[in-house]
Amino acid sequence: MSALSELCDEIARCQLCGIARYRTRAVPGEGPEDAAIMFVGEAPGWHEDQQGRPFVGPAGKYLEQLLASINLTRQQVYITNVIKTRPPENRDPLPAETQNCRRWLERQIEIIRPRMIVTLGRYSMAMFFPGKSISKVHGTAQKRDGIIYFAMYHPAAALHQQSLRQVIEADMLKIPALLAENKAVAETEPEPQQLSMFEE
Ligand code: URA
Repeated sequence: MSALSELCDEIARCQLCGIARYRTRAVPGEGPEDAAIMFVGEAPGWHEDQQGRPFVGPAGKYLEQLLASINLTRQQVYITNVIKTRPPENRDPLPAETQNCRRWLERQIEIIRPRMIVTLGRYSMAMFFPGKSISKVHGTAQKRDGIIYFAMYHPAAALHQQSLRQVIEADMLKIPALLAENKAVAETEPEPQQLSMFEE
């Protein structure tokens, strides 16, 4: 069994939060163990809880369309969430739940070692861009320890708010160039370097 499958089993057995009692299935995440890009959403919803898979409801369909706009399929990227259990009534995750689940996301990142982490929505952004506001930080990237962090609005927000659609679609289109620039630097420059496209 791969390290990632073992980790997903461990996540599925986790009982650290009270909400574990109410879930149908945990939703650890899915995608290749060597994915170059990891998308991190907020929390599973009803559909995800039923199937044990991330982004399989309407927001997931839209995420698939966004991926197609940069010639990617969901099978080529790793998709997960900040918290791995559906909060009852789809309420926002509590700080204690985010804190408990953080260890899982960190271990997923250690195993997959993606070149790029794309945060979807406020909760995910807050983990990697602490203290920032999504309206300011969306569409911008930071590079730390060889990983590009790129913030986007949540696809569900764009589904409900027409004005965000153009924004999220334009932000998605920035991903290939960021990834290509990071790859080029990683292959030619062993030393850490500030990339021209990234914010300080
Ligand atoms: N919204 C999320 O943030 N994650 C999912 O998996 C589905 C919807």
